[in-house]
Amino acid sequence: MGPAVDSMAWAFLPRPSKLVLPRLENAMPAPAPLAALHRDHLRQLTQRYQAALATEQLGGVVLLAGAPAFHFLDDTTASWKPNPHFSLFAPLPDAAGSAVLVPAEGEAVLLHLQPDDFWHAPPKAPRGAWLDALDFKTITSEAARDQEIAQWAAAQRGAVVTLGPGHRDPAGFRARVDFARAQKTPYELACLRAANRLAVKGHRAVQAGFEAGESEFALHLRYLAATDHEDHELPYTNIIGLDERGAILHYHHRRREAGPGESLLIDAGASYAGYAADITRSYARSPGPFQALIDAMDRLQQGLIAQLRPGIAWPAMQSACMGALAEVLVDSGLAMASKEAVLEAGLPECFMPHGLGHLLGIQVHDAGGQLADASGTLAPPPAQHPALRLTRTLEEDVVVTVEPGLYFIPRFLKALREGPHHALLNWPLVEAMTPYGGIRIEDNVRITADGVENFTRDAFAAEA
Ligand code: GLY
Ligand code: MN
Ligand code: MN
Repeated sequence: MGPAVDSMAWAFLPRPSKLVLPRLENAMPAPAPLAALHRDHLRQLTQRYQAALATEQLGGVVLLAGAPAFHFLDDTTASWKPNPHFSLFAPLPDAAGSAVLVPAEGEAVLLHLQPDDFWHAPPKAPRGAWLDALDFKTITSEAARDQEIAQWAAAQRGAVVTLGPGHRDPAGFRARVDFARAQKTPYELACLRAANRLAVKGHRAVQAGFEAGESEFALHLRYLAATDHEDHELPYTNIIGLDERGAILHYHHRRREAGPGESLLIDAGASYAGYAADITRSYARSPGPFQALIDAMDRLQQGLIAQLRPGIAWPAMQSACMGALAEVLVDSGLAMASKEAVLEAGLPECFMPHGLGHLLGIQVHDAGGQLADASGTLAPPPAQHPALRLTRTLEEDVVVTVEPGLYFIPRFLKALREGPHHALLNWPLVEAMTPYGGIRIEDNVRITADGVENFTRDAFAAEA
């Protein structure tokens, strides 16, 4: 950690290390001074929560970090993530039992629990200039925390609500802050860029491991080492599927045996100060029809990203994706009919039964994707795309994933084979492609005034 770097920027990394520092310094585009951005972020965040408190006529909100749950009849706990509303204010992964208190007026308070416990190492004391933007207090027991919260709540003018596990959801308040969260602050954008840089290190390492013929398990270990993450620090469980396992959308097993390894789908992210990357790449071992499909899906994805700008409704992008996928099915020879007939028969939905993307931020599937407005009106997905997590209209500085796919999923293929559209498909080619599993290409992009900034492609280019 060199003196030229603002200490705050590194204070909340899971494990500050020599590895991480140069990564961020080299980030493309160059990172803005993170400490100043973080202070601005906290001010903006406090204002956002206070505007919601004012509209809902509340005196304050308590954001409980929460705590890990014990396994049934056991004294070990499940892996755990803090309440995302807490994490937006306090980027502390090790904050079980802590809380942030946001008053209707004035500074937010961070109550940081550091129990006097000889069994476990206590959480490290937070440090860094970002604490200037909060009122910060260390507490040593849950009882002391509850007493602090009670005293604080009694001093507020108006009702205080709690947003956290085990409490009645202040749904109206939460909708307002969740809706606003889609548009990222400059600090959040810097963190999402850095998370992409980190994840791409892992993706490059796994690509080399795939070329060397390694197993899913070995590839996963490679990924953890290259990103300097422990398993529980990943924003989501890695999906690393060789061959037919690429067709399992959320494949979480890791086979120890390697072969045959003709194809690989890797969907793996990284976390920077709590912000997530969510990146997928697909590979074929040899040139041929499956590699040609990967290339076609890459062009399809880039074509969709080129259409993104403020004012675009995401469900329209899903429809555009289905249209482009119908073309890929026809051009590749998988479907033997016109694009119109393929669309009419609903074939694209059978080859890509998930949404085109979702909001990304402090959560990998960031909240608020199906809100029509700040008052909590829901915008449910259209009937033909029930899996769509995002139904909003894009605005500047919203960050989304763009992740079209094409999979050979046995249960959908069986239904097609036995259904009325049987004759539309080229079954020998479908059968030849099924052992390769599937393809997904997933980038993380920020909507700008007239297009996008592609964090993922920038990171791959910087890493090349
Ligand atoms: N990695 C989960 C997703 O792509 O949404
Ligand atoms: Mn993903
Ligand atoms: Mn995703």
